[in-house]
Amino acid sequence: MVTNSLVSELEFEKPNGNGSTTYLTHNFHTYPAKFIPQIPRGTILQLTKEGDTILDPFCGCGTTLAEAKLLNRNAIGVDLNPIAVLVSKAKTNKLEKGDIDLTKVLLQNIKSSIANYYDTKTQNGYKIPDFNNRDHWFQQNVLHELGIIKANIMKIPKQKLRDFLFTAMSSIIVIVSNQESDTRFAAIDKQIKPFRTFFEFKKKLDDMSLRVINFSEKASDSSIKVFEGDTRNMTFLEDNSVDHIVTSPPYANTYDYYLYHKFRMYWLDHNVRSVQDNEIGSRDKHSSKKKDIDAFERELSLCLKEMGRVLKPNKYAVIVIGDSVIRGQLISASDLMKKIAPENNFQFVREISYNLKKNSRMFNPKFTNGDKLEHIMFFKNVK
Ligand SMILES: C[S@@+](CC[C@H](N)C(=O)[O-])C[C@H]1O[C@@H](n2cnc3c(N)ncnc32)[C@H](O)[C@@H]1O
Repeated sequence: MVTNSLVSELEFEKPNGNGSTTYLTHNFHTYPAKFIPQIPRGTILQLTKEGDTILDPFCGCGTTLAEAKLLNRNAIGVDLNPIAVLVSKAKTNKLEKGDIDLTKVLLQNIKSSIANYYDTKTQNGYKIPDFNNRDHWFQQNVLHELGIIKANIMKIPKQKLRDFLFTAMSSIIVIVSNQESDTRFAAIDKQIKPFRTFFEFKKKLDDMSLRVINFSEKASDSSIKVFEGDTRNMTFLEDNSVDHIVTSPPYANTYDYYLYHKFRMYWLDHNVRSVQDNEIGSRDKHSSKKKDIDAFERELSLCLKEMGRVLKPNKYAVIVIGDSVIRGQLISASDLMKKIAPENNFQFVREISYNLKKNSRMFNPKFTNGDKLEHIMFFKNVK
């Protein structure tokens, strides 16, 4: 049952609530339009029991998955973007003190390799990826320091520790690049000094280490699986295999997740093009390639169909989605969802809508312009 107390709890905790949103592993990595952990926490607590399986089919940086692990629920995350998958794994994997001790040795090795590079000016035992306009976006010293950091991480045999370390590396890439900020694509001269890249990495790792140890003490041993995949076609998940869905799909014409993570994907050897082509609702599709809202409706409907297939009957899907503007026209995400839900056997139950102009804490201020609303929508699977 979707109770009133759930709604009031979410009302309290949503954008202008007081609770921290960056506790434990939640601040590992910046991510556009991540939702506050109180949303999945609230629905998981109210709508599931320990041992149940929760699905977030657009898991982004793993907010739902981390909460599920803390609440002793199994969870499955799906996202197209390999950076989302990497961060989701790092945010939900438990590590031990011995792993953190190893990172200290790794930092020493990285520091001496970097010193060796500055002494000899020779590139020894590491590669720097080649991509379009690389030297426009990265200083030479930064390229070498990142190359050394990456090569040292690749030598770590334990996959969970490698995911943790690559997440730390990924989180500093825009900071040490010439890109003005995560959301501004202008190149500026940041005058990054020798060893600054190393120290940014070390600072991030020190903070993440404390947090992951704390998380590992508090989190359950439930199973968390993360798939790099397309939500329109979740063939890797069985029918009727999940007890609850809580998720936030892309808001049409609002972000380009592939662009936001482009340099990170280049550094970690991923294919940017296929992420760009398969991302639904992107600005690239709706502003640059001028697809209209019908295209988004069709793609989101395919996702809902898959969500309905894997969710058990009579269970709830909670979908957080925002309005958008396409070619000057305001599109109500709530109306769109209410139109496509019944076609996919989802019955609308209730929603909480709010104006992001007044509640700007959760999202990029850019999104708060205009009359757009964001909606927390509850649907019951009536197949
Ligand atoms: C609003 S974000 C989710 C943020 C998440 N709730 C969090 O807290 O981090 C939407 C996500 O949908 C993903 N996405 C876009 N198109 C997709 C597709 N076809 N299949 C799977 N994921 C997709 C994007 O990569 C992005 O991570």
